[in-house]
Amino acid sequence: MSYDMIEFTRDGHVAKIRLNRPKALNALCNNMMNEVMQALSELESDDSIHCVILTGSDKAFAAGADIKEMQENQYLDIYKNDPFEKYAGAIERFRKPIIAAVSGYALGGGCEIAMMCDFIIAADNAKFGQPEITLAVMPGIGGTQRLTRAVGKAKAMDLCLTGRMMGAEEAERAGLVSRIVPLDELQDVAEEAARKIAAQSLPIAMMTKETINVAFETTLQQGIKFERRLFQSMFTTEDQKEGMAAFVEKRKPHFKNK
Ligand code: CAA
Repeated sequence: MSYDMIEFTRDGHVAKIRLNRPKALNALCNNMMNEVMQALSELESDDSIHCVILTGSDKAFAAGADIKEMQENQYLDIYKNDPFEKYAGAIERFRKPIIAAVSGYALGGGCEIAMMCDFIIAADNAKFGQPEITLAVMPGIGGTQRLTRAVGKAKAMDLCLTGRMMGAEEAERAGLVSRIVPLDELQDVAEEAARKIAAQSLPIAMMTKETINVAFETTLQQGIKFERRLFQSMFTTEDQKEGMAAFVEKRKPHFKNK
């Protein structure tokens, strides 16, 4: 498949999806999100890919859902088609690690898809926000829930009710982003992080991701049990034997992803 609104590249075990609709600050129109879905579906079944980076331009990761496309929507159309469910589902259900490398605006749906990724590396010019209230709507792809879990009630209320933007430093202090880097280093740092993840055993990385995500869905005791069972199951893998043998023998491990 050819892509018009995203740049889709693979380098070794790492793939990058770059949102590329600069004139609209990467507003998430249906065509672009369909391309993101298609790319993720290719990557899910591509065994050579172990980690994915989702990124945008220096000026905008994404300035939100496409307001011009949404403007005339009628309730029953979006209720029946539920496009946000499809787009969000594609990212939420993606099982391999996925990093959001965010520079510039990550607003509305842009902030929401960044939060659906496993973690966010932010450039120092990143600006996060849920300004939907200024359009007389509210976040509709999980923002009220994910932002609240990430930054707590006070800041989530502040951002969603005022519509103000939050800079990278505030976002890091609040726990929304894992690290801040200078803008001109963002892609290199994200690629380095992705390569580090990709060098681990893929099934173990996938199980780790799955287990951390369980923390948002269960009680502490259920989550700990889930973790313990998966931890125990890892001792059935060749990679666990290799990883521990390599440590003991003071050499680099060679994982077979099985
Ligand atoms: N949808 C559609 N087009 C958008 C857009 C969006 N979310 N954001 C920016 N654009 C377009 C602008 O209309 C403009 O297009 P034209 O040149 O054709 O007029 C172009 O991108 C450049 O934008 P600006 O001229 O506004 O650029 P700026 O630098 O002056 O301002 C900005 C940048 C502050 C991000 C401003 O564009 C802005 O406020 N954008 C909207 C942000 C927003 O409200 N996002 C939430 C959308 S709703 C949503 O996401 C719901 C949900 O939960 C799913």
